[in-house]
Amino acid sequence: MPSTCVVGLQWGDEAKGKIVDLLSDTHDFVVRYNGGANAGHTIVWGDKTFKLSLLPTGVLKSTVQSVIGNGLVVYPPRFLEEVDQLLAAGVTVGSNLLLSDHAHVIFPYHMEEERLAETGGTGTIGTTGRGIGPCYQDKVGRRNGIRVGELLRPDHLRERLRQVVPYKNRFLAAIAQDSPHTPKPFDPEALADEYLAYAERIRPFVTDTTRVLHNGLAQGKKILFEAAQGSLLDVDHGTYPYVTSSSSLPSGIWSGSGVPARSLDRIIGVVKAYTTRVGRGPCPTELHDETGERIRKIGREFGTVTGRPRRVGWFDAVAVRYTAALAGVDAITIMLLDVLSGLPELQLCTGYRLDGQVVDYFPSDAYLLERCEPIYETLPGWSEDITTCRTLADLPAAARRYVDRIGELVGKPVAVVSVGPDRAQSILVKPD
Ligand code: GDP
Ligand code: IMO
Ligand code: MG
Repeated sequence: MPSTCVVGLQWGDEAKGKIVDLLSDTHDFVVRYNGGANAGHTIVWGDKTFKLSLLPTGVLKSTVQSVIGNGLVVYPPRFLEEVDQLLAAGVTVGSNLLLSDHAHVIFPYHMEEERLAETGGTGTIGTTGRGIGPCYQDKVGRRNGIRVGELLRPDHLRERLRQVVPYKNRFLAAIAQDSPHTPKPFDPEALADEYLAYAERIRPFVTDTTRVLHNGLAQGKKILFEAAQGSLLDVDHGTYPYVTSSSSLPSGIWSGSGVPARSLDRIIGVVKAYTTRVGRGPCPTELHDETGERIRKIGREFGTVTGRPRRVGWFDAVAVRYTAALAGVDAITIMLLDVLSGLPELQLCTGYRLDGQVVDYFPSDAYLLERCEPIYETLPGWSEDITTCRTLADLPAAARRYVDRIGELVGKPVAVVSVGPDRAQSILVKPD
């Protein structure tokens, strides 16, 4: 069984968590390489539901080594809260979870900056408010970024915060001029006390995770990479500026974990049987009618992290063909097919009309994409409940046809069809 990446091919929330959980049985490591607690991955085992935000999905299994790679941005209270929630639920969390000393630390001034920016005059993105973008800005800017390893050196951390916090206070006061909010100034000594207390609890988890992964590879261990967000939210290739601030495509693995791309044998692209998007930015197939409402209700399309209603639309094969090519996927998994049961007809977007011209490619420039009108192919729906189907042959003919057509339009084999949130509600087309 090879090393694998599971990546979302839409705008996030494709049900990556469920596929990572299914595959984690056959891997030694589960590694997050991008993002932070902006992610919300759901795993359902019978009557138990787990929602993971910052921690890798592998943490639910004590036999798997879970790794928060260097490419993440970590808010320590959130890390500890998630660990505590799992412990309270009876999950073993200890040496099976590792946190990179190179990951960057989110401070309250990052969240304050995001709040001011999202309510200011420069235009909103509709972020999750978790401080992700400002923390990555500090990482790339180098002067103000603080890494997890620095939390473990008390004098050093205090000194760094004495340098950074006064600058942040001046910066927040300046950007607040565009916002209705008044920023609260931060005290470097109080922040140092607070973060040094977190550091004591975090210390046992912190290590050089790149070295751990290199040792694992040398011993022939299998690594499963769990992407956060979706490929259309990738900072380079997504619908910029309505994206997240990290590389959610598998291209982020090398920089975000230290594992070279050539160690990866297999890339699985996860798609919903329709489209959802949270936050702002173009979504050509978005539905503003009763069908959209129905899908939102049946699919329980409300954000795992923020509870915001997700925008809902028809499946966009143009977008997914683009992301499948970008991600280099070997196969796709089609999720939440059961949500479409009962709709008389289904639409698949096969092209766009852009300023009167028909185009068959995805303009990832958000300003061009906003002007695209979807061109649809109509397929018949099915009325049967499909949540108990376990093989392709169990599916109604129309559902089977819908799945086959998505595979054809995307140009990739379909490895899994998911017909319900539970781990068991899965049709394994290719059993491995
Ligand atoms: P992720 O961020 O990609 O891991 O996805 P989320 O967990 O944010 O959202 C996916 C939602 O769909 C979760 O509530 C899952 O429990 C649920 N889900 C996963 N697969 C299916 C499915 O096949 N059918 C239905 N109805 N729900 C599913
Ligand atoms: P998972 O891993 C869906 C969206 C936000 C916003 C944009 C930028 O669960 O699929 P950010 O807080 O990252 O700066 O917000 O990205 N977003 C997600 N949408 N699923 C996610 O993660 C997301 N993570 C960020 O809604 O539009
Ligand atoms: Mg999610």
